Amino acid sequence: MADQSLAKSFLNAGEDYDRYRPGFPDEAADAVLPGSVDVALDLGAGTGKFTSLLVSRAARVIAVEPSEQMLDVLRAKLPGVEAHVGTAERIPSADAAVDVVTVAQAFHWFDREPVCAEIRRVLRPGGTLGLLWNHSDPSCAWDRACTRVAHPGLAGGLTADDAVTEVLPGFGEPRLVQVPWQERITRADYIARWLTVSSFLAASETERTRMVGELHRILDADPATRGQDEFDLPQITDVYVYRAA
Ligand SMILES: C[S@@+](CC[C@H](N)C(=O)[O-])C[C@H]1O[C@@H](n2cnc3c(N)ncnc32)[C@H](O)[C@@H]1O
Repeated sequence: MADQSLAKSFLNAGEDYDRYRPGFPDEAADAVLPGSVDVALDLGAGTGKFTSLLVSRAARVIAVEPSEQMLDVLRAKLPGVEAHVGTAERIPSADAAVDVVTVAQAFHWFDREPVCAEIRRVLRPGGTLGLLWNHSDPSCAWDRACTRVAHPGLAGGLTADDAVTEVLPGFGEPRLVQVPWQERITRADYIARWLTVSSFLAASETERTRMVGELHRILDADPATRGQDEFDLPQITDVYVYRAA
């Protein structure tokens, strides 16, 4: 099971998370919802970065998220979305009421077995589960190095492989769609983004200062970023699409 102190580090995040974290490309949402549906539910919705892509794809969109602060931002941005405080372990929805459940950048925080059973409970028969992660493009050495500062055990950044198995209980074999995309980002925003990542949020002041110093050292050393106020950040969104078995 995931380290719950890290999972809870988001409880007080909100505006900074929304401002600095990357969004998701449209193609990632298309992979989960190729056509429109009646009801889509975004689990661990945060400030609504992925939820916003569901709005044009579902008649009714529900967001479930444990952090009130994250949800406040989501409610202000997406007033048409039904936003509920709740967790993946106890989804505030009736049985077989949802066509699609999505989990963006959050499934690794969940207790997999009970959460899969809970997602199956709320999904209509044959419903879809979409799991999404943004991660570093392995070809980008400086972003990979910065990722190691946040996640010392990971070579390429958090990917689905670190969190998911190929098959989840109660679901068929997944289909994997990988969407490469690129973002223009200022150096200041790139650093501020790392400060919204769980390991930075949970670190002591001293440790955080050391980690930020390490990020600056990497950006000052790499020829692609040295002396630049802005650079192109390549990313890949992994989308795992499951059907309820
Ligand atoms: C990295 S953020 C992703 C937020 C959003 N989906 C996005 O892509 O921007 C992870 C989110 O999972 C939420 N979370 C952590 N544990 C959870 C749980 N047991 N059930 C539901 N959400 C949880 C956190 O509060 C946080 O908002």
